[in-house]
Amino acid sequence: MRATVIVNSVTPVAGTLWTGSLGWLEHPADNREVAGSNPASSTSNNKNGRRWDPFMPVVSGSNAFELAEALANELGWEHHPLEVRRFPDSEGYVRVPQESIDAIRSNPVVVVATTFPDSGIVEALLMLESIYDVRRGDMRNLKGEGDQELTDSGPGIFLAVPYFGYSRQDKRFQQGEVVSAKLLARLLTRRCDGMVVLDLHAPSVLEDLEVPVSFVSSMPEIANHLQYHVKPDFVLSPDKGAIERASHVAQAIGCNFSYLEKTRIDAHTIEHKAKDLDVDGAIVAIVDDMISTGGTICKASDALRRQGAKEVHAACTHGLFTGGAITRLANHVDGVHATDSLPNPRSVVSGAPAIARGVEDLIKRVL
Ligand code: R5P
Repeated sequence: MRATVIVNSVTPVAGTLWTGSLGWLEHPADNREVAGSNPASSTSNNKNGRRWDPFMPVVSGSNAFELAEALANELGWEHHPLEVRRFPDSEGYVRVPQESIDAIRSNPVVVVATTFPDSGIVEALLMLESIYDVRRGDMRNLKGEGDQELTDSGPGIFLAVPYFGYSRQDKRFQQGEVVSAKLLARLLTRRCDGMVVLDLHAPSVLEDLEVPVSFVSSMPEIANHLQYHVKPDFVLSPDKGAIERASHVAQAIGCNFSYLEKTRIDAHTIEHKAKDLDVDGAIVAIVDDMISTGGTICKASDALRRQGAKEVHAACTHGLFTGGAITRLANHVDGVHATDSLPNPRSVVSGAPAIARGVEDLIKRVL
């Protein structure tokens, strides 16, 4: 399926990656010459002189269709939805459609997969495995359809994870615990040459992977959104962990900033240390990486109201909104603003521009 794109809008990257040359394209895998889908359009070139189709493939499964479509538009690439079904017992099935095989073998490919809920993890693994086989030329099948073996397309599989499930279990707090974020990252990177992760809770957990990771953030887009729709006088980080992200937003907007010290008692209970904040009569935006139960935001909002804040808004990248969070938040804040990193009812900011920055970064680093 061809995404609606303006060919010449391919985002330029520093250096010599994107050239804008015209005409015939060289197949990176076997030096075949193939005609470009639009001979008058620009083509992309990597540092080794390989040329790619201007419509490089962005693929998705069942849980990130819209975001993959938006990413394809952002990059000026083409969205290829994979065939994704469920067996009657609910197990997943993934297949690269016949019409996408050439594009996936001829160009670097970005797989967009949110690893939440758990079914998203399995789907991501199945998508990566199917693309890995197609790219290395393992086409053997029981029906004997088409060529059984093709040449190896080489490296060029990039995984983009808008919301990285299990990111919060990033340490072994007690004996016998699994560091879930690390395990997941190892599994996901088995079949790709690089990974883009959007606003990961604690990037340090993915430090020692065998493929490069591009950590990207939607905070620039969240700042733009808040500046335009909320016009905050003050930005608050609800805990120390969100200081970097929230202070970026405050800086981009040009307003005051502070943070709270939070202690988590359990998954549903948190405590904030009392702190004087200069928010009397102010419009305040609380900025965090994710909102789950909403407990953190509600507590922070109460502290702000007690100190005279006129309006309180909550903004985050990942809107999980579990167990009645939307209703709880409605009783404490004037607005909730999230990205589309996972489907949610407060998605007002696109994660696509940030992910596109990561894809461009990885292509520069890897190919
Ligand atoms: C934790 O440090 C995160 O940055 C969020 O503050 C937290 O996950 C939010 O969870 P909840 O909405 O359940 O308070």
